[in-house]
Amino acid sequence: MNPLKHVAIIMDGNGRWGLKYKKSRNEGHRAGLKTIEKIIKESIKNKIKFLTLYAFSTENWKRPKNEISFLFKLLENFLQNKINEFHKQDIKLKIIGKKNFSKKINNLLIFSEKKTFKNKKLQINLALNYGSKSEIVNSFKLIKKNKDKISEKKIEKYLHTANIPDPDILIRTGNTNRLSNFLLWQIAYTEIFFERKLWPAFNESDFRKIIKKYKNIKRNFGSI
Ligand code: FPP
Repeated sequence: MNPLKHVAIIMDGNGRWGLKYKKSRNEGHRAGLKTIEKIIKESIKNKIKFLTLYAFSTENWKRPKNEISFLFKLLENFLQNKINEFHKQDIKLKIIGKKNFSKKINNLLIFSEKKTFKNKKLQINLALNYGSKSEIVNSFKLIKKNKDKISEKKIEKYLHTANIPDPDILIRTGNTNRLSNFLLWQIAYTEIFFERKLWPAFNESDFRKIIKKYKNIKRNFGSI
């Protein structure tokens, strides 16, 4: 059985779910947040150590202003309400992506990271303003700046995910089979699961089924 340390998720389908059931894309995001809470609990139950969630991409800035402000208000309320609970549960929060939001959001993110920095049970990597290509370019820039030699190790050292093992599983919900500029370097040998359900409809049982499938896959890493 394959060990499972790291699950990454592209949480797609909030907008479609919201329009279908609540006549509002934003209500889909609110419901998506509930799914995040379920999956965090289930990750802990399954002794997963790293959960990486794609919450906002560098391309998501193209969305209407009202949707962007709704998402960040949701994030703000979520962190304000939950960070103490996360801390008590030994959960560590790390932001991957460039923190160039409003001062209020940036400060809240930095505060949440600092508060939970030493926690060990589960690390949640929240991808915000994240884009994989720009992450890789940035890594090369840092290699150049530090006059380092280019190698896989050095490239990894300067990614947001330095010291985090590559994902074992990548899940994309929402019935779309693409990677949308997410962790392109890190998923070289990741097992990918495309799930038809929209993110707000995804639940613990769907998650457990994927874990079970993953555990029984023969992973060769290029060998036979
Ligand atoms: C993709 O669905 C989802 C997002 C771009 C945002 C993910 C956000 C949450 C799960 C809510 C929690 C929010 C934060 C910031 C932690 P989509 O809107 O692209 O769905 P669609 O493909 O149906 O339009």
